[in-house]
Amino acid sequence: MSNNFDLIHRPRRLRRTEGIRDLVRETRLDPANFVYPLFIIHGNGIRREVPSMPEVFQLSVDEGVKECEELMALGVKSIILFGIPETKDAKGTGAYADDGIVQRAIRAIRDAVPDITIITDVCLCEYTDHGHCGLLDGEEIVNDDSVALYVQTALSHAATGADIIAPSDMMDGRVGAIRDGLDASSFQHIPIMSYAVKYASSFYGPFRDAADSVPSFGDRRSHQMDPANFREAMREAQLDLNEGADILMVKPAMPNLDIIHELHQTIDVPIAAYQVSGEYAMIHAAARNGWLDLEQTMVESLTCIRRAGALIILTYFAKRMARFLHS
Ligand code: PBG
Repeated sequence: MSNNFDLIHRPRRLRRTEGIRDLVRETRLDPANFVYPLFIIHGNGIRREVPSMPEVFQLSVDEGVKECEELMALGVKSIILFGIPETKDAKGTGAYADDGIVQRAIRAIRDAVPDITIITDVCLCEYTDHGHCGLLDGEEIVNDDSVALYVQTALSHAATGADIIAPSDMMDGRVGAIRDGLDASSFQHIPIMSYAVKYASSFYGPFRDAADSVPSFGDRRSHQMDPANFREAMREAQLDLNEGADILMVKPAMPNLDIIHELHQTIDVPIAAYQVSGEYAMIHAAARNGWLDLEQTMVESLTCIRRAGALIILTYFAKRMARFLHS
């Protein structure tokens, strides 16, 4: 041996050219696994950019339809709908009204873009005048009566043409109740993607601007999970699975790659991750300051969420990432 450099293993051999790097790349992204969130508002011809979320808009139904056509052309075939109602009340009536904003959007999109997969977020926080996710008794969110309203909301979405129901409220027992409700109304074929592991996270800040769902007092820590907890996440996931969830979601994504990984290793239903508004806003803000490269950071963040074990990624980058993959 002449020196210390007679190495048998030189990992750099497989990093020498883009061709070789491409050959050994273990994780690839496909726009078909992305879900693009849409914020739908009343009116016509409206595209209002969300200040804290560049390139994300509140859209009137007609503009939402155009967005869906563009998404399909890019290979992004799934959306999740959030509604911003004209009026709010204590019971969140707009969430389950037959002519509610999400119901209108479902009809128009189903009609114009029949093959797109329409997922609907089921929660009351965008529809209650107090901004909380359920019915209040004083300052407490009442669990079981709120669940009854999510069931009503889910049924209304399914009856209008939604393909997948996604409860995001984090009340106990809501997945089972929605499953029973759907089954009893001949919607046995409609899957539930549950926000199973949803943390009480500061990364939702920009979303609450976009969806106009800032709680008028307090926070969401009485029902969303403590970011300090891992074992509890496993229990939440198992409960939702036992109650009939078809897809389990983790949210936010990047702070919780350990949870995504563990669920992927231990549970055999598809795992989804939501790269939330704050994760998106943070990358854009840094890029605007010249501190990060927007495109490279987008690719890296999504690749690592996929690598951790998320098959499905809900992301505001879906369109930009699809364009990147096509280029
Ligand atoms: C509740 C809901 C929230 C998000 C998705 N569904 C907000 C919350 O729990 O306060 C957050 C998504 C994001 O931040 O991008 N309807």
